[in-house]
Amino acid sequence: MSFLEKINKEKIPRHIAIIMDGNGRWAKKQGKVRVFGHNKGVETVKEITEACAKIGVDYLTLYAFSTENWKRPKREVDALMKLLVSSIKKEIKTLHDNSIRLFAIGDIASLPPKTRKELSKAIADTQHHTRMQLNLALSYSARWELTNAVRAIVEEAMSGKIKVEDIDEELVSGHLTTRGMPDPELMIRTSGEQRLSNYLLWQLAYAEFVFSPKLWPDFTSEDLYEAIYDYQNRERRFGKISEQL
Ligand code: IPE
Ligand code: IPE
Ligand code: MG
Repeated sequence: MSFLEKINKEKIPRHIAIIMDGNGRWAKKQGKVRVFGHNKGVETVKEITEACAKIGVDYLTLYAFSTENWKRPKREVDALMKLLVSSIKKEIKTLHDNSIRLFAIGDIASLPPKTRKELSKAIADTQHHTRMQLNLALSYSARWELTNAVRAIVEEAMSGKIKVEDIDEELVSGHLTTRGMPDPELMIRTSGEQRLSNYLLWQLAYAEFVFSPKLWPDFTSEDLYEAIYDYQNRERRFGKISEQL
């Protein structure tokens, strides 16, 4: 029986965050260059995005490029930026067909002009879609995001727009790149690595983590459903005890 039939359709996480990892190792295993793995990874992005939209996920956030990834060899960085442009162009139809709104979180200003242009265009062209929001985390890191939030909040406090006593969790959340979105209930990382790599540190405070041994290009919608099934069978206590739930 497929995990798609096993999952409870009434308990689909509203927001799923994924660390798409393992493209380079996947390529190496076939004796190919790393970029080959990134190209293949785009097919997985399409499959997982469509699967999430179909089962009723409201927000899907994909870690596509971290602040730290700028430190990779220039050749790989350039190839990734190019791939982003070509993938957006190629997959814009998928977004329209599934009524998916594209959004980007991260230091978008640091992306090359061509990438930025294609991204902004796709975001604008899909903004009316309502079935699901696909967030691409690009040049993103949680510490970058939190540092920016602290700066903005301090500026507002110093200019008298807010009082220090006004600073609460809601206000902090409202200064993050994910403002207005629910926190992810489920975080999936592929490739067997078990770390957050500077991803959504605030937002994942109470998320359930699923670590898949599969490399991202091998990850399928069935693996996604299995992760959701796993999530659905956990007891989320939020600090309470079982009997209180
Ligand atoms: C994830 O795959 C994609 C990006 C970080 C852009 P990697 O490129 O990290 O692949 P591995 O981890 O080296 O196998
Ligand atoms: C995290 O993967 C970033 C993305 C998936 C975009 P990395 O492969 O860059 O993370 P580390 O370096 O193994 O922690
Ligand atoms: Mg990696």
